[in-house]
Amino acid sequence: MANNEDLFKKITSHAKEYGFIFPSSEIYDGLGAVYDYAQNGVELKNNIKQYWWKSMTQMHDNIVGIDSAIFMHPKIWKASGHVDAFNDPLIDNKDSKKRYRADVLIEDYIAKLEDKVNKEVEKARKRFKDSFNEEQFLSTSQRVIEYNKEKEDVHNRYSKLMNDNDLAGLKSLIEELGIVCPISGTRNWTDVRQFNLMFSTKVGSVSDDSDVLYLRPETAQGIFVNYLNVQKTGRMKIPFGIAQIGKAFRNEIVARQFIFRMREFEQMEMEFFVRPTTEMKWFEYWKEERMNWHKSLGIPQEKYRFHDHEKLAHYANAATDIEFEFPFGFKELEGIHSRTDFDLKRHQEFSGKKIQYFDSETNESYTPYCVETSIGLDRTFLAIFSYAYKEEQLSDGSSRVVLNLPNILAPNKVSILPLVNKDGLPEKAHAIMDDVRKDFKAHYEEKDTIGKRYRRQDAIGTPFCVTVDNDTLKDNTVTIRSRSTMEQERIPIDNVKQYLRDNL
Ligand code: GAP
Repeated sequence: MANNEDLFKKITSHAKEYGFIFPSSEIYDGLGAVYDYAQNGVELKNNIKQYWWKSMTQMHDNIVGIDSAIFMHPKIWKASGHVDAFNDPLIDNKDSKKRYRADVLIEDYIAKLEDKVNKEVEKARKRFKDSFNEEQFLSTSQRVIEYNKEKEDVHNRYSKLMNDNDLAGLKSLIEELGIVCPISGTRNWTDVRQFNLMFSTKVGSVSDDSDVLYLRPETAQGIFVNYLNVQKTGRMKIPFGIAQIGKAFRNEIVARQFIFRMREFEQMEMEFFVRPTTEMKWFEYWKEERMNWHKSLGIPQEKYRFHDHEKLAHYANAATDIEFEFPFGFKELEGIHSRTDFDLKRHQEFSGKKIQYFDSETNESYTPYCVETSIGLDRTFLAIFSYAYKEEQLSDGSSRVVLNLPNILAPNKVSILPLVNKDGLPEKAHAIMDDVRKDFKAHYEEKDTIGKRYRRQDAIGTPFCVTVDNDTLKDNTVTIRSRSTMEQERIPIDNVKQYLRDNL
């Protein structure tokens, strides 16, 4: 665990040092859980967006995209259930005056029990070396059996309390488990209260309740309220989907783990409208389809897992998360929900507009059901970035930090480097740059030794470097170096673009 914490710290400082992510408002000491994407970060983020957008709207002939406004009519959030039910259970420590999520305190307690089991396993593995049988150890070690039993008991009680919305019960459980505030070290807790996560603001100059607007906590509602418009103007036939990428805002209480949990973040959501009774088939279809999308990035399957929800959201009849193994453990990366006809029916009720689909195949009218895929763009960034980060020991005894980003997502595809900053090499390199940049996002640099420049591009994740040297002036060839293998090849300048096309 300590090692992973260490690795995570390295990843976050790498993100800042190499121009991927900066804390927001840093010169004013930052703003909690808000981050800015820097010069390389914005390229990587845009590439992820493009990759998702194309996979949805270009690779499916029945999915179209929209870009709805962040501000929407306040009744929408009443209809969607967010005004009444988009809450987190909060608890304050009276001594430190720090606020926590009651559910997270209990989840952390369960995670600590899991850590204890893992530590016992590691200790035994070291002690028994080659003869160690993990399965046998797990089923016979008294200590491990006790930890696992406690874990299961706490988990079951906690799930029931959450399902029943039993706030007093959550407080009792926290007290019974002896959970202390990490700051004050005391168990002096307030009662648990519900806290709505939506940010609100006012529109216009008159301040009464009717002017309250919410910053959207999910992009999905922008899709539901445009369902009729898109279906009619796009002449869409069920089943069909509407995709959207955009900002969402949540007043998160536990804001930690870098860009994993932010107050302003981006979602990539797709609502797929289907005939009632077929939703479970489509739910399974989208589970598989989305997992395949993740795997297509070249990250191994074992870094992902499905986690079915025990407590279903108020709008869902089935739900699963795709979890990713971040440096701080397996956590939710994407949610797939079967949202039934809840949203369209509620908007029909609250707006008074009929939202129905006439199915010419079955000759009936109905409110479509909906399967949603919802992925956090920032979390996807973090997953890809943290998996790509590698510290490598090289055969010559030196080491390097390399970002093994999938080529398609790398901020720059190629860096053009004159060996020295004289003798006509920069002019030659600029000419190559001007040609290459028409087809590829390219970067040019002439400062520092070539070795340092290679290391810098490795750390940013640039797949190829093209070096211009004195021989280039004589025979019009350049050295092309691969980030992943560090191997170099000599090729004619005229072949550079084709080489990149073939290898990216
Ligand atoms: N429309 C459904 C919905 O919003 P969600 O599980 O609350 O479902 C979907 O959010 C995804 O949005 C999550 O899987 C996560 O990747 C991302 N997400 C949610 N809250 C976030 C936050 N505070 N910071 C960053 N990403 C977040």
